[in-house]
Amino acid sequence: MILSPLRLVRTWAFRVVAVYAGLFGVSVAMLLGFIYVTTVGFIDRQINATIIAEINGLSDRYRETGLAGLTEAIAERIAQDRVGDAIYLLTDTDYQPVAGNLPAWPTDVERQGRWATFQVLLSDDEDASGYEVRAMSFLLSEGYHLLVGRNLREREGFEGLIEQSLVWSVLITLALGMVGGMVMSRDMRQRLEAINRTTKRIMQGDLHERIPVGGSGDEFDRLSGNLNEMLVQIDRLMVGMREVSDNIAHDLRSPLNRLKSRLEVTLLAATAPDQYRAALEQAVVETDQILATFNALLSIAQAEAGSGRDHLVTLDFAALARDAVELYEAVAEARGIAFTSDIPAEALVRGNRQLLFQALANLLDNAIKFSPDGSRVAVEVAVADGEAAFSVTDSGPGIPADDRARVVQRFVRLEQSRSTPGNGLGLSLVTAVMTLHGGRLALGDGAPGLRATLILPLVETEAVDQRRATATT
Ligand SMILES: Nc1ncnc2c1ncn2[C@@H]1O[C@H](COP(=O)(O)OP(=O)(O)OP(=O)(O)O)[C@@H](O)[C@H]1O
Ligand SMILES: [Mg+2]
Repeated sequence: MILSPLRLVRTWAFRVVAVYAGLFGVSVAMLLGFIYVTTVGFIDRQINATIIAEINGLSDRYRETGLAGLTEAIAERIAQDRVGDAIYLLTDTDYQPVAGNLPAWPTDVERQGRWATFQVLLSDDEDASGYEVRAMSFLLSEGYHLLVGRNLREREGFEGLIEQSLVWSVLITLALGMVGGMVMSRDMRQRLEAINRTTKRIMQGDLHERIPVGGSGDEFDRLSGNLNEMLVQIDRLMVGMREVSDNIAHDLRSPLNRLKSRLEVTLLAATAPDQYRAALEQAVVETDQILATFNALLSIAQAEAGSGRDHLVTLDFAALARDAVELYEAVAEARGIAFTSDIPAEALVRGNRQLLFQALANLLDNAIKFSPDGSRVAVEVAVADGEAAFSVTDSGPGIPADDRARVVQRFVRLEQSRSTPGNGLGLSLVTAVMTLHGGRLALGDGAPGLRATLILPLVETEAVDQRRATATT
């Protein structure tokens, strides 16, 4: 897809590349500037040294051989300088040229031992082209003036070269940056488009769509991978929710239908107030059951969806167990069932207080419900290997080993339990709560009854000690 320039400029990739190209251009300019300054400095020093050496040589010659020798030497040097960069001028006391390759003593040039830079025009016209000269003047004995210089053509050439390189390299850097930006932003856009297209299809309802993963393991692949995992998770939760709502609908439909037909029959058939009263009492009992089922299913769904995970706090599991035992002792007493409990002073776990209490209560409820009158129920909390284990052992019929995996599923009740009230949801809730807490439910043999155990990871004591220390300071 081709982007309009405006939209291209608004892409993130383009902006990044533009910034980089700018930075790169600036650094190229700085580098060339540095090269320029150091090289020009070097060239200048070279030129100065050559000029000084020449002046020394020529003045020696003058001292040894006089004016004739000097004139000869100047002529020789001009002849030898094939490039034509050497400038010499020897004048008499009135600055009238005696020898050399400059037509006249340049104005503004001092006489003695001073550096000068001046322009030499190639003709007398005002706008004639010329060249720049760097020179030093020297006063010889008997009033002769000697000027030795160098044409700065080479240096100017170098300056021009650097200027050109600067312009070109900045232009090339910017152009490459722009092209790179377009390519990058196109590539990125295409990949984001792929993600967008898939999310659109998902929004239209197809949760089974997955975002394509390139396989290079780059950021986009990781993003796509994470989004795909999220989709799997959402899909799983949706299936779970659907299952729960199906189950609720399924399990509530028959008692609701029963309730409705009972009420209809009462309306048609009943004549005496007693009959109405009996029908209403029965209706209340059935409504209670429906509500209990409904609440249990909701709790399971919430625990499975992990909604209690945000409310995990460090709590004393032992104290929670004592509270639960106390609550159920009264119920047990009515059936002549005695509790024995062995619970340590403290067992810290991270958990949701309400959900954990519900789990404990469900196990105690089962133990009492399935135990014969007058029997014993043993409750124990053991702490070992970084885990807290809450176990309830009763002397009821127990659960055959083959059925132990099955009874934790929703609505599963064993044939032997037909006569006891219940929905078959208690152990499902316990399992969901344990999964939420990173723990597990173990069903074992309590000989003769059932031994049901909740196992939870303990909070590391150092962390707790630290937290306490900071809380008290
Ligand atoms: N302590 C136990 N002794 C014998 N059987 C048990 C015991 N606990 C559970 N079971 C068996 O496992 C089944 C499932 O138990 P669960 O607690 O899930 O449901 P429930 O007790 O029947 O009903 P609810 O807990 O919803 O009121 C029970 O119906 C029973 O058959
Ligand atoms: Mg139960």
